[in-house]
Amino acid sequence: MPRRNWTDEDEALLLNLRNDGYTYAEISEIMDRSESSVSNKFLIMSKKDDSTQEEENDSEDPEVLSSNQERFEHKEDNDSVQIRSVSERIQTVDEALEHASVNTTVWKVDRFVVNSWEAPSKEHGVTTLWQVKVWLIRRASKPITEGLETLYKRILEHKPAVPNKNRKPITADKHLLEVSLFDHHFGKLGWEPESDSQYDLGSSESIYYNAVEDLLDRTSGYNIDSILMPIGNDFFHVNNWMMTTQRGTPQDHDGRFQKIFEVGCMAAIKGIDRCLSVAPVEILWVPGNHDPETSWYLARFLDAWYRNVEDVEIDKSPKYRKYKNYGINLIGFTHGNEEKHRDLPAIMAAEVPDLWAKAKFRSWHLGHLHRKSQLVHNGNDTFGGVTISVLPSLCGTDAWHYKKGYVKNNRAAEAYLWHHEDGYAGHFSANVRLD
Ligand SMILES: [Fe+2]
Repeated sequence: MPRRNWTDEDEALLLNLRNDGYTYAEISEIMDRSESSVSNKFLIMSKKDDSTQEEENDSEDPEVLSSNQERFEHKEDNDSVQIRSVSERIQTVDEALEHASVNTTVWKVDRFVVNSWEAPSKEHGVTTLWQVKVWLIRRASKPITEGLETLYKRILEHKPAVPNKNRKPITADKHLLEVSLFDHHFGKLGWEPESDSQYDLGSSESIYYNAVEDLLDRTSGYNIDSILMPIGNDFFHVNNWMMTTQRGTPQDHDGRFQKIFEVGCMAAIKGIDRCLSVAPVEILWVPGNHDPETSWYLARFLDAWYRNVEDVEIDKSPKYRKYKNYGINLIGFTHGNEEKHRDLPAIMAAEVPDLWAKAKFRSWHLGHLHRKSQLVHNGNDTFGGVTISVLPSLCGTDAWHYKKGYVKNNRAAEAYLWHHEDGYAGHFSANVRLD
């Protein structure tokens, strides 16, 4: 990259971006400069500012020298706080922070100066004045703290669900209901004029919840004693603040990262709460190729949210593949982008031999392709007694998929019924519904 001089406009942009909480890596992308160039420039600019302030503030304060009046300054901007105290009584950094009511969960001390000098006093003739100067920086960038604060507010508005104690008692014909909303891609953007379908953060939230509602309605006539919800499988469209997948592929996205995460978390909670009105819920975290980290944060978040609800269990263990045994059924879950599909039966037998031995119905449920697998369409193709199904997705098409011709899939979510003694009992589909 050829060396380019920094203009005043460049410096102002750099300062604004840092104040807005962008990382050096993000700024490097935006300004088309190397990461070391932007970080060095910012440090040089910061030192310049500090040295100016040192010259202004390091000397004894003439206004305070002549009396015992106190002087206190408190300056704050997006990413830093400066405190300066000159007095007899405030002599330490902690005392200065307390006097300034600094929230130390948000700010941390970057550096400080404490010094003192003799000054005339009306009461005592001579007294010691203390100067305490503290520079503080944010513990986390502003977008992160703002995102968390928004989430906390919504948490306060939405108390954890109390399981519905009026559920019908299930004594016979027990079923597990698997509610599988795969590849929802919260945060994905499909712009209708460009990709033939509109999909954004707002519509993804209502589509998600309506699908849960429809699947529960359609299965309400069955005796359901437990519900299984795999979560992950590209629940989120992006994996990080750069709005890319885990491998760094940039994505068309709707909204800022913290907003996407917040909407996704609250949609999951709403869906789980609705399921709790039917039966206890078990969550399995299954990482996707878009969201292995973001969906793990979601699993941790749900684990904390439902910590006092005994009817919710969350398997957030790090294994990529998860298994569920229910009566004579064994269902394996994986996103489906890593393993050869034909190897999955052998993988199941090798990984959970005890469950394999006692199961009579063995299945794999995969996502990733956003369309129902032809294997299932053709009528329960099996490999050594194991059915392998690729489940559809409710999410819309973005520009890249449209260009490639991946269009007009049936956008749907599915729920499967597993009878405790009789095995697979059928499945239901919920298509896209906005209201
Ligand atoms: Fe996906």
